[in-house]
Amino acid sequence: MRHKIVAGNWKMHNDSKETKTLIKGVRKSIKKLSLKNTRVIVAPTFVNLTAGLKKAKKSKVEVIAQNMHQAKSGAFTGEVSASMLKSIGIQTVILGHSERRTLFGETDVILAEKVNAALESGLEIIFCFGELLEDRKSENHFTVVENQLKNALFHLEPIAWVNIVLAYEPVWAIGTGETATPEQAQEMHAFIRDVLAKKYNTVVAENTSILYGGSVKPNNAQEIFSKKDVDGGLIGGASLKVEDFTEIIKAI
Ligand code: 13P
Repeated sequence: MRHKIVAGNWKMHNDSKETKTLIKGVRKSIKKLSLKNTRVIVAPTFVNLTAGLKKAKKSKVEVIAQNMHQAKSGAFTGEVSASMLKSIGIQTVILGHSERRTLFGETDVILAEKVNAALESGLEIIFCFGELLEDRKSENHFTVVENQLKNALFHLEPIAWVNIVLAYEPVWAIGTGETATPEQAQEMHAFIRDVLAKKYNTVVAENTSILYGGSVKPNNAQEIFSKKDVDGGLIGGASLKVEDFTEIIKAI
């Protein structure tokens, strides 16, 4: 189902105390907002998920994971499986973030396996993808994005898409302060919907939430979110401060 979503990807930030303080701050600051059809999500590190879930209990704040391993269990030192996440009460996981792809070698093939493992365990997925600066400069960004979707997601049946949220994050805009213009975001989001309609149907295309990520800040969120195919944002740096994150939530 298509929702408006503001999700904070906390990456490797915040210890246990900071996680609890931040969630407390967010839940307090959104209490009086009217958030109809709008989801507010935060993604702390694995070790802070349980504390985060506890702090977010009985509030609008959803606590989700940043990653998981594709195997059900086994000799994978340091990894966490989908069923482990489910067992502590996690409902949603981010997959395919560009930092996972570039720093930890996650390929489309691995991501397709992770997608299957997450869905089999009943997890919803926020699936990240986006082109590099060189792809955009060489005008290959549409092809790159289409291939990322095709390779990791297009083996799925249409029904599986009720549990997929897409997050278009152009790599050149992540943590750089350089945002895609609202027009560039809209152009890509409309393209993605078109690709979904061609591969599946208009129901899948229209019902899938597509978020934009990459240097979304309080001063640019409203303009980006005002675009018709942009359903919200996946926020890095600006989600680490209650005031900034709240302003971005208000923008939606
Ligand atoms: P920034 O908002 O810090 O650019 O990070 C975006 C991001 O990577 C969210 O997943």
